[in-house]
Amino acid sequence: MPPDSAPPPVSLLPHASLNFLNTMGVAAKADFMATAGSVAELQALLKWWRAEHRQSASPPPILPLGGGSNLILAADFAGLVIRIGIHGRELVREDEDFVWLRVGAGENWHQLVEHCLQAGYCGLENLALIPGNVGAAPIQNIGAYGVELQQVFAELSALEISSGVEVTFDRDACHFGYRDSIFKQGLQGRYIITSVTLKLAKKPRLVCEYPALQQYFEDHGSKAEHPEQIFAAVCAIRRSKLPDPSEVPNAGSFFQNPVVDRAAYEELKGRYPGLVGYPLDDGARVKLAAGWLIDHAGWRGYRLGPVGVHDKQALVLINPGRGSGRDVLELAARIQTDIQARYGVKLVIEPSVVGS
Ligand code: EPU
Repeated sequence: MPPDSAPPPVSLLPHASLNFLNTMGVAAKADFMATAGSVAELQALLKWWRAEHRQSASPPPILPLGGGSNLILAADFAGLVIRIGIHGRELVREDEDFVWLRVGAGENWHQLVEHCLQAGYCGLENLALIPGNVGAAPIQNIGAYGVELQQVFAELSALEISSGVEVTFDRDACHFGYRDSIFKQGLQGRYIITSVTLKLAKKPRLVCEYPALQQYFEDHGSKAEHPEQIFAAVCAIRRSKLPDPSEVPNAGSFFQNPVVDRAAYEELKGRYPGLVGYPLDDGARVKLAAGWLIDHAGWRGYRLGPVGVHDKQALVLINPGRGSGRDVLELAARIQTDIQARYGVKLVIEPSVVGS
């Protein structure tokens, strides 16, 4: 920063540690870090950063940071990390059947799920206990136990990083797919999400077809009749299988479930009768359970120095020894190579990898 430059609009921390800001528990630093508590602060910060680097042909990058639960830091970040501290929930519209709730990107996702349940707004109960903040939810179209964010999504607001202009994206504009959106594709790194508006039902419509949920209610000799029961079941299932990041560092599912065509699925099923796959609506493709593939290949519980594969869910890589991002990616690469060789299936890493 030149000595005669304007002061930043919010306090700026140089050489900031990111060690406790990513749930994978990786040690890394950012050249600068700041927190934006409002859209106006974020706009001012982006404007200031642009002005500071006006002369530079390639200005240093900006990384918006929410809960850090879907992020693998492969190296230190030579740019500005902006923590999104935009809070608030606002009922923006209501009719006989639905409410439209606008939520600040910095709100914690699970606390929002609890709030909605208490308020009688239905639709988020299957998405309980997903770590991270609201602003990150549309980027990968979070999903669990038969529900994806896109089913309750109305629109979002985002700032274009290069101009600071606020833009609204409706559901079509987001191009949602399985763990995917336009913010992971064509618009990757170009916008910072500031709020998300959800359309939630006043009358419950329970989704309980997911096999693990059905199994849970069967085991408990009960039937799901209220959203609270789904919420409790999802919390119980997640707690039994998925490590709590505050105890064992992890980033949730490390790979996406791969989609293959039906012929490839039939061929694999012939070789491995236990293979788990979910036919997609188009009838031509099947989504394979990557956890099953990795588990069946013998990786569950495996350790490679400080990192490893969770012993109750092989799709989750863990970092109990607080290894580096490179350690995590080395283990991931070994698993990818093995799965490709055994089953001819390519595993794609699900969290964002930054700095590789
Ligand atoms: N399986 C095994 N061994 C394992 C893990 C799984 O055999 O080690 C089998 C299970 O028995 C089951 C199947 O694989 O038959 C699927 O397992 P599970 O129900 O645990 O779900 P998943 O497909 O592994 C996905 C999401 C999770 C989400 C659950 C529930 C992805 C990448 N992951 O996992 O999302 O919670 O379904 O809906 O789609 C996340 O994204 O971080 C995440 C945790």
